[in-house]
Amino acid sequence: MLKKIMLVIAVVALLAGVANLIAQDENDEPAAPQTQRQRRGTGRPGRGMGPGQGRRMPGRTGASSIESSPIPKTEAEKKILSVLDDMDKNQRRGMMNVPIEDGRLLRLLTETIGAKHVVEIGTSNGYSGIWFCLALRKTNGKLTTYEIDARRASLARENFKRAGVDKLVTLVEGDAHKEVTKLKGSVDLVFIDADKEGYTDYLNKLSPLVRPGGLILAHNISMRGGRSGIADYVKAVTTNPDLETIFYEQGGGISVTLKKR
Ligand SMILES: C[S@@+](CC[C@H](N)C(=O)[O-])C[C@H]1O[C@@H](n2cnc3c(N)ncnc32)[C@H](O)[C@@H]1O
Repeated sequence: MLKKIMLVIAVVALLAGVANLIAQDENDEPAAPQTQRQRRGTGRPGRGMGPGQGRRMPGRTGASSIESSPIPKTEAEKKILSVLDDMDKNQRRGMMNVPIEDGRLLRLLTETIGAKHVVEIGTSNGYSGIWFCLALRKTNGKLTTYEIDARRASLARENFKRAGVDKLVTLVEGDAHKEVTKLKGSVDLVFIDADKEGYTDYLNKLSPLVRPGGLILAHNISMRGGRSGIADYVKAVTTNPDLETIFYEQGGGISVTLKKR
């Protein structure tokens, strides 16, 4: 009897599996020839950021499988997006920039909370900084960003200028672990994207300045590869009752931490 029941379960499971495969075939759109690099927005020439049509991205499941591109509302926004596009196509090498979709998330969160002061650790050539500035133009805010590498800092200055956002930015050249201790006043949003071992130190030094209701974001938050420092950071932002943290795993992996009111 038991053997019979097992046999019936096995046949039902097999049929269910086949039915599932058929259903997937019917529902899935044909896979477009898109590389993982393009899906992650890590920018190859030709990807572009022109006015976007929503489309379903093959190889992704769930609600996040729809992709769109930013559509400029004004000429100024168009100009900034075109600088970002150019950086995406021509400057990414060695700059460790956030993927486009993460940049868009930074802009969106900044504008949503009406941030007046964003602090970024890890400027590189200014790519993520310019995404912040897209929002800060509208919130009358400013960006303070830290970079230890002189060559990248100089490139960032050039990029801020050609995007026309240099007046919104204070670039501090030096070791951010030391330099952030000089920061005064309230901060609405912190973005940590530098030395991974230093994430918890940045959190400890900057979270007291973040206003209640403000956000602390950190990039490359993925436990894959066992990055040193990340596990400590994740523990720090998930065990403190003053903080509420979610993990946005698309793109480069961003943790979004709310400093509770
Ligand atoms: C991942 S990149 C930043 C990318 C940038 N946020 C973007 O998306 O365009 C990290 C940057 O942090 C800088 N960095 C590393 N350690 C630092 C430190 N102690 N202080 C300031 N900057 C640092 C590196 O030189 C590098 O340019």
